[in-house]
Amino acid sequence: MNTGTRTGTDTGTDTGTGTGTGTGTGAGGRAAVVAGVGGYVPPDVVTNAELTRRLATSEEWIRARTGIRARHVIAPGTATSDLAVAAGRRALESAGAGRVDAVVLATTTPDRPCPATAPEVASRLGLAGVAAFDIAAVCTGFLYGLATAAGLIASGGAGRVLLIAADAFTTLIDPGDRATAVIFADGAGAVVLRSGREEEAGAVGPVVLGSDGELGDLIEVPAGGSRQRSSGRPAGAGEEFFRMRGRETFRHAVERMAAAAHTALEGAGWKTGDVDHLAAHQANARILAAVGDRIGIPPGRCLSNIEEVGNTGAASIPLLLAHSCARGVLREGERVLLTAFGGGLTWGATTMTWPALPPPP
Ligand code: UT7
Repeated sequence: MNTGTRTGTDTGTDTGTGTGTGTGTGAGGRAAVVAGVGGYVPPDVVTNAELTRRLATSEEWIRARTGIRARHVIAPGTATSDLAVAAGRRALESAGAGRVDAVVLATTTPDRPCPATAPEVASRLGLAGVAAFDIAAVCTGFLYGLATAAGLIASGGAGRVLLIAADAFTTLIDPGDRATAVIFADGAGAVVLRSGREEEAGAVGPVVLGSDGELGDLIEVPAGGSRQRSSGRPAGAGEEFFRMRGRETFRHAVERMAAAAHTALEGAGWKTGDVDHLAAHQANARILAAVGDRIGIPPGRCLSNIEEVGNTGAASIPLLLAHSCARGVLREGERVLLTAFGGGLTWGATTMTWPALPPPP
């Protein structure tokens, strides 16, 4: 059944109005189907112990309040496109031979303000000539990307799409801000989507999306955009850095992810008990526990890699899928519920069955 893109209200519930772009499952049982997955984290690791040497924090605080023990960070000179190319290449290998018709890149940290990063990523992957563009939805970027890629497939605009989510979040973080420096990290994840049938393993269900711009200042980088640049004044002290009102963000993250997940379950015709795995945006281990609890999914069915990789922004869900697939945790035909939340505010959720894939590296 074609449920179209569902727009959330500011309460996070589905208005049912739909924009009719046919995301997820399409008319006549057509669907976007996952055909490949890949993830990449840069080799450099920062442990909690290292952070305590430069910030007023403790290993115990970070572990207890966030669930994170270590995170991967880029080396100087590395950019988002480098992460995206590495993850994209792995997803293409996982999908086997075959060209893709579009590259969609979800990122909060493009290499440059202009042009978009996706065309460079496509060219470096040997895909010059295909449609390539960026999506900006902060930590919900992968789900906005899934809806967009599924729409391209449903409209006939593309037969296969490479969707990458990559963030070099540490380039935005104030190294002296203990509330964000302990959480955010760098990484990339990617999936190849192809046109298929909704009953196939790998099929993506209806994608629920929502936003609330009135709360845009909960998570923001104040400087660097047209408002500050057009004023002709240089950025104020610290305005080029990412800021987050952590406690309020925490509350909205739990509410929005849980509400969007419920709507996605309804759209797919699934019950909570049908879900084998919850793959939620890896924002904070306490947020993950609260979201699982609200939806009614026990901790043993909540996928997590936040302990080793931290919060990797848009990359977090596809990186989690790649890691879980590599570890044999995700098996063919298992039902996965995805939900995310990020700056904007933005949120989203969807369902998918897991396809038969070789474990990615
Ligand atoms: O990716 C999508 C969007 N992001 C999220 O969803 C993240 C949402 N927020 C969070 O994960 C949490 O709010 C944080 C991890 C950022 C903070 O944890 P919290 O339990 O909400 O702490 P808090 O902000 O309520 O702060 C409690 C105390 C404060 O001290 P006072 O005012 O009680 O004296 C903070 O200054 O903890 C202090 N604090 C720290 N202490 C040690 C904040 N960061 C740290 C730190 N080490 N790193």
